[in-house]
Amino acid sequence: MKIAIVGAGYVGLVTGAGLADFGHQVTAIDVDADRIAALQQGVVPIFEPGLDELLSRNMAAGRLVFTTSFGAAIAEADVVFLAVGTPSRRGDGHADLSYVYDATRKVAEHLDGFTVVATKSTVPVGTGDEVERILAEHRPDADVLVVSNPEFLREGAAIEDFKRPDRIVVGIEDERARAVMTEVYRPLYLNQAPLLFTNRRTAELTKYAANAFLAMKVSFINEMAELCERAGADVQEVARGIGLDRRIGSKFLHAGPGYGGSCFPKDTLALVRTAADHDVSLSLVEATIAANARQRFLMVDKIVGACGGDVSGKTIGLLGLTFKPNTDDIRDAPAIDIATMLMERGARVVAYDPQGMAAAALVVPGVVMAEHAYAPADNADALVLVTEWNEFRSLDLARVAGVMRHPVFVDLRNVYRREEMQRAGLRYMSVGRPDAEEPRP
Ligand code: UDX
Repeated sequence: MKIAIVGAGYVGLVTGAGLADFGHQVTAIDVDADRIAALQQGVVPIFEPGLDELLSRNMAAGRLVFTTSFGAAIAEADVVFLAVGTPSRRGDGHADLSYVYDATRKVAEHLDGFTVVATKSTVPVGTGDEVERILAEHRPDADVLVVSNPEFLREGAAIEDFKRPDRIVVGIEDERARAVMTEVYRPLYLNQAPLLFTNRRTAELTKYAANAFLAMKVSFINEMAELCERAGADVQEVARGIGLDRRIGSKFLHAGPGYGGSCFPKDTLALVRTAADHDVSLSLVEATIAANARQRFLMVDKIVGACGGDVSGKTIGLLGLTFKPNTDDIRDAPAIDIATMLMERGARVVAYDPQGMAAAALVVPGVVMAEHAYAPADNADALVLVTEWNEFRSLDLARVAGVMRHPVFVDLRNVYRREEMQRAGLRYMSVGRPDAEEPRP
């Protein structure tokens, strides 16, 4: 099949490379000429494990090409995927659909022959109708069907998620689209990934519902963590105890500094706004958002508490700046807010992250970026693990304790056990677990 993808960002690149790997002929289009020039040279603009290799293999095989021009790629395509961003609109939190509609107008110009336009971008329910209207307005003659095909890729594991999805959701309004989309995903279908066909509005809403539900799980366990701390219980054991119930499931019950990233914060907010437009109040999603915002303050309180109630003039080391490991993405990362709040309270913040420092330096210029994982501990009054990168999971704790001014370790991802910290002479605090005893002399 011939496939065009509009938007060579995170979703577009992973989807394009994945579809090319299935044997389809893929052209990825982006209006950013620098980005396309770099990609043509094999320079990948984002950090995503496995993506470099997947891109270069398929480019070498001639199945994947990059261009800034819509013309031939759209005219020849059987399917055009829209994979442009839908950021939060400034001021009101609605999804900003201007990139989607711009792309739609450009696609309309070049449509030729029967074409399916599939929206991969996360878009509010009803957007497909507007895409359809724009196409019809610009090209009343075109034989085009609009479908919704949301992505469920996790950053850091996107290639794996693309190849082995839990499900593929496709929203169609015309049966002719079913055959086309089945053909697109045939290799996965053969791997028994369920291909769920539904109507377009349902598919659009399914994406938001999935993200909101997962975000709710995270906020739920974070609230439980707070109660566990006060009541002397252990949230990890609570999570295990409830997670083994198959109706609940064990995933997304890891307490921590709250969710961040490019999806959950933006999508939960956009869902609440969309619901309001329909006179529906999504009180659970609203509470999820509020609890997540609060979690960052609670983490700062925990750090300040670990420093004896005042961080002014103190040095706090941070391990991790990205919103999760295996990505260079710092969008809405808890670490950025935590660093900002600590600096507002007079602390000097020193941070290390394997991939996120370049981006973070632009957003929080006051943070001192360290050379390696042990540097933030140097003369620090507390060391805080914010993002659970693998290299922070097996630190030489004696070395850490040896260089700190005050040997205090605040583990916001519950990576370590209290006993090992105490053996190394570190005071230990984590999230939702019984607090550390004083270190043995
Ligand atoms: C998410 C969805 O998982 C994906 O399906 C969708 O397409 C995009 O949004 P992503 O943002 O890459 O993916 O990250 P994810 O792994 O889902 O984590 C989201 C946030 O929740 C992270 O900040 C993570 O640290 C946090 N989280 C996750 C927890 O705090 N606890 C958990 O148990 C799980």
